[in-house]
Amino acid sequence: MRTVAIVNQKGGCGKTTTSINLAATLAARGLRTLLVDLDPQSHCAAGLGVPEDRIETGIAEALLAEPVGGENPERMLWEVARNLRLAPSTVALAGLEAARGGLAIVADRDARLAKLLDRLVDRFDWCIIDCPPTIGLLTFNALRAADEALVPVETGYFALKGSERQVATIEAMAARLGRPLPLHILPTLHRPDAKLASDLHAAIQRRHGATTLPLSIREHEVLREAAGFGQPITEYAPGSPACEDFVRLVDWLMEHPTACTRASAGNTIAMPVQPLATEPAEPASPRVADLLARMRAHAGFSAEIDASAPTQDTPSEPAKAEGQA
Ligand SMILES: Nc1ncnc2c1ncn2[C@@H]1O[C@H](COP(=O)(O)OP(=O)(O)O)[C@@H](O)[C@H]1O
Ligand SMILES: [Mg+2]
Repeated sequence: MRTVAIVNQKGGCGKTTTSINLAATLAARGLRTLLVDLDPQSHCAAGLGVPEDRIETGIAEALLAEPVGGENPERMLWEVARNLRLAPSTVALAGLEAARGGLAIVADRDARLAKLLDRLVDRFDWCIIDCPPTIGLLTFNALRAADEALVPVETGYFALKGSERQVATIEAMAARLGRPLPLHILPTLHRPDAKLASDLHAAIQRRHGATTLPLSIREHEVLREAAGFGQPITEYAPGSPACEDFVRLVDWLMEHPTACTRASAGNTIAMPVQPLATEPAEPASPRVADLLARMRAHAGFSAEIDASAPTQDTPSEPAKAEGQA
């Protein structure tokens, strides 16, 4: 199972849109795909037509269960399309990052998701994790569980400056894993016709070099519509230019396999895991050093660091659901 975390602490940069439609495009190719919603706002459920009031257990309960995932972790999964299952989130997820209670009181608090996914590893070919717009325990769980991370970055105004900070923050978190975590920057909400956007796209590419993907997810009104109708783009507008963007993303990922660097969570003893309180040998930049200092001050990531407020719209009127497996 290849696990990709979709991560950026900025809200509204296209994490959920990328997660849903990347997962659906993989599933449409016949690949067994698991989409994990780690954002308490539950936008994956809304965007895939799963009625929130019918979600009884979600990822929060699974992460807290003993053993992680409970008796049968597949029970929480929703079948949202052929080959596509959703591990939904609920508002309970917000409580997991509370300073007292939740994950803060369990010893393996940053490895719970990795352990949960270990139990599902034979059931799926791909796992896509939609992260919350915060830098905290949930995002850290996602990075620890991932083989690689995709960082959606808007090519809009102020994007370049913002993206530097966003990427530095994610790099600082990834440095705590004690193993390499490939990061790919994915330009999103891109408007190729706008001069400014194209300049920014080029600047992002120059600034971040090889980590920037040679493709982008353009701004397509149909992606907003699809979310409003509770459908992935593969169902709402198959063959559309929006669909083509995700096909190109999937093609690129398939052509660039990532060596699975994450050890099974059960084998963490064999891994040179860096304790959260130590600093990596060479921080990439003064900004990273500053972040590390702030993380130490918030030992164990029990509080949010540099969290930015989510700004996204909520898709309206979920249209369909096939039921909880
Ligand atoms: N490529 C895109 N084209 C058009 N609208 C988009 C695109 N990506 C995201 N959006 C819209 O922008 C808003 C924020 O996107 P979302 O994926 O929810 O971001 P995030 O999960 O990072 O907060 C949503 O209303 C979404 O429908
Ligand atoms: Mg989101």
